[in-house]
Amino acid sequence: MTDDLINKYDLRVPRYTSYPTAPHFHDGVDGAVYRQWLSELDPATNLSLYFHIPFCDEMCWFCGCYTKIVKRYEPVKEYLDAVLAEVDLIADALPARMTAKHLHWGGGSPTMLKGEDWMATLDKLRARFDVASDAEIAVELDPRTATEDYVRDLERAGVNRASIGVQSYEPKVQEAIHRIQPYETTKQVIEWLRAHNISRINMDLMYGLPLQTTAEIESMIDMTVDLRPNRLALFGYAHVPWMQSHQKMIREEDLPGAAERWEQFSLAVERLKHLGYVQIGFDHFAHPDDPMANAVETGELHRNFQGYTTDTAPAMLGFGASAIGYLPQGYVQNERALKGYREAVFAGRPATAKGIALSDEDTLRRAVIEDIMCNLTAEVDPTHFARDLEKLKPLVEDGICTVDGGRVTVSEAGRPFIRLVASAFDAYLGTGEGRHSKAV
Ligand SMILES: C[S@@+](CC[C@H](N)C(=O)[O-])C[C@H]1O[C@@H](n2cnc3c(N)ncnc32)[C@H](O)[C@@H]1O
Ligand code: SF4
Repeated sequence: MTDDLINKYDLRVPRYTSYPTAPHFHDGVDGAVYRQWLSELDPATNLSLYFHIPFCDEMCWFCGCYTKIVKRYEPVKEYLDAVLAEVDLIADALPARMTAKHLHWGGGSPTMLKGEDWMATLDKLRARFDVASDAEIAVELDPRTATEDYVRDLERAGVNRASIGVQSYEPKVQEAIHRIQPYETTKQVIEWLRAHNISRINMDLMYGLPLQTTAEIESMIDMTVDLRPNRLALFGYAHVPWMQSHQKMIREEDLPGAAERWEQFSLAVERLKHLGYVQIGFDHFAHPDDPMANAVETGELHRNFQGYTTDTAPAMLGFGASAIGYLPQGYVQNERALKGYREAVFAGRPATAKGIALSDEDTLRRAVIEDIMCNLTAEVDPTHFARDLEKLKPLVEDGICTVDGGRVTVSEAGRPFIRLVASAFDAYLGTGEGRHSKAV
């Protein structure tokens, strides 16, 4: 049944890591608006902090992230100085010294930062925020460039979660994506992390990569589960060469077709569930002992720009070029260009380039979309949402979801279409957005 449905529906819908989604941000929300919003925060609000490090030392051809290749450390160091200046600038705009509960470094590759710079960054953060003693301090980590000394420096800085990019263990796939990373390298890094008390391990796997076959999926999952990650993400390769020109290096004839992508995904899900992992939303998995598995049970799962999270902070401050943040009043995104970003913060201005203020209607729809994406169900007012519920009719006929009064529930078989169900409540959909990648 699912094969037919994948062909039937246009699955190019947003991933709903925010609502409204980033293409609807506009330059009416600038640094002055952001400063105002920051000053209005309740000082008791817990904060989440996100840092974007847009550098890597080599380009993986599949990469869809915002990053630049650098061969020297100077640009990284210069950038980091700007990020630390931004921390001061933003902390000064807050109504009081506030508590940070979640810290996350993403990229690009935060592994580009030298050990001493991790210490300097954490020192600065501890100087300007109360970093909670139980705060989650997470970094995305590229195993190809991590050494044991580096892991030791992360431990010293207080890091307690690492998200490890793996993608595939198959040498011919690794060659086709220009990312050579033997299994032993990944295994070794995980052993170092655990030996240095960084025991919360996430791993990123992919399907739909060039030359990837359904036959390799089962062993990919088994080899991964042998490493006992606490959480796993299983991303379908999003081929968007019109946005990421380096993806043109990937031969389209090497890409698995829709049916094979679907087979790869289903096999991976089946195997992970068989091995005891709990499916989170559509493409994330948690070990049953992990708090994320528990959050599914208690309805406390959330979704933000890092994907699924147990982070409940109502405000996330984004630092670095292109970083996105949110406050109860709305979303803000920093300038993408490194030069413009640096100039703004060194001139003492927030580097906010765009954003969106949330209307009451946006807030209402955001809660419905987040409920569907996280809990597979939402309760809506059937009168207010009559037109949206109407849009779900074909999905109900196809068994993707049920609608009972105002209760919308995604069926187990409908999980792969979760984004499609959520999109019925997106009032902006089709209003001047770019192209999205396929949902499956
Ligand atoms: C910023 S990267 C991870 C950190 C680190 N740079 C690394 O590669 O090890 C985040 C993850 O996004 C996923 N990803 C990157 N490009 C993608 C694409 N085009 N389609 C789907 N997933 C992608 C990969 O699984 C990758 O590990
Ligand atoms: S996948 Fe990670 S390491 Fe590779 S280019 Fe993208 S951000 Fe850099």
